[in-house]
Amino acid sequence: MQITLTRPDDWHLHLRDGEALASVLPHTARQFARAIVMPNLRPPVTTVVAAAAYRARILAAVPAGTIFEPLMTLYLTDGTTVDEIRRAVDSDFVRAVKLYPAGATTNSDAGVSDLERCAAVLEEMERSSLPLLVHGEVTDPAIDVFDREKVFIERILRPLLARYSGLKVVFEHITTSDAADFVAACGPRVAATITAHHLLYNRNAIFAGGIRPHYYCLPVLKREVHRQALLRAATSGSPKFFLGTDSAPHAQTTKEVSCGCAGCYTAHAALELYAEAFASANALHRLEAFASFNGPDFYGLPRNAGQVTLVEEEWRTPQSFAYGDGESLVPLRAGELLRWRLLG
Ligand code: DOR
Ligand code: ZN
Repeated sequence: MQITLTRPDDWHLHLRDGEALASVLPHTARQFARAIVMPNLRPPVTTVVAAAAYRARILAAVPAGTIFEPLMTLYLTDGTTVDEIRRAVDSDFVRAVKLYPAGATTNSDAGVSDLERCAAVLEEMERSSLPLLVHGEVTDPAIDVFDREKVFIERILRPLLARYSGLKVVFEHITTSDAADFVAACGPRVAATITAHHLLYNRNAIFAGGIRPHYYCLPVLKREVHRQALLRAATSGSPKFFLGTDSAPHAQTTKEVSCGCAGCYTAHAALELYAEAFASANALHRLEAFASFNGPDFYGLPRNAGQVTLVEEEWRTPQSFAYGDGESLVPLRAGELLRWRLLG
């Protein structure tokens, strides 16, 4: 069995910087023609000038002979200006603005403390059709970690969409049936990305026989009913759901510690993992639209030329990859079998 798809894109990716960037970029560039690159560096990418410089560093790290286009994002802060949004719109490489509620996840301390402060910026984005990408979790410590996405919908997202009735929004890496239902019920200006790991695993994976830090990400994996709802959404054929790996590399030494970083690394086998999820729902025929059509259609970008082929053939993923300056990176499914293999 094999399937051929139009070359896909990754609509949510963490590439980091410096030597770490050089370690992970070849994995993504082998699989995807483009990727929406998250801006949560230290310091965060808050200006078009910084995004241009980061883009140049990414392009310099693309392996020779590979064509890969980074689609850049700006990190929204309380201090983002309307002029910066205009510069982003005028650039041909900044494609979206990312909202991290302050403190929600890795390098999000510069995030937005009060959306009211961003009113003029959001109006400008609405006017110019620049999408807002949201990390959809409240940060209120009184809210259970497993409920933070659901509460975000009612407290933040629904009012935001009502107030900015033309704003394009991508609800990133959704993890619950609540989010899938919410997005499905919204108009076409609201879409969602779904990761491979949230399609394949429920929260038991984090605790199977002991604590497994490589399954810890944010938003955290949820119950099986939620995984099933995400799989239904992804394989439904709805154009509102598309591929975003949220592949988030962290050195092994910062994952396997008493307070480990959040993030699953899936870029090494992203399409293979998605193929496994879609095959489990007998929906491989829906993978191409999810991976290659729905994202560019939402962003108003052309679909890619060229194709990739996946074959049903077992292979074992490496235990780890070299990462940055002498560190290691443990991928999802390290040392385990995968059922699909990307050719080439
Ligand atoms: O698990 C995560 N890791 N979730 C995020 O939102 C950020 C990401 C990262 O940058 O490591
Ligand atoms: Zn992310």
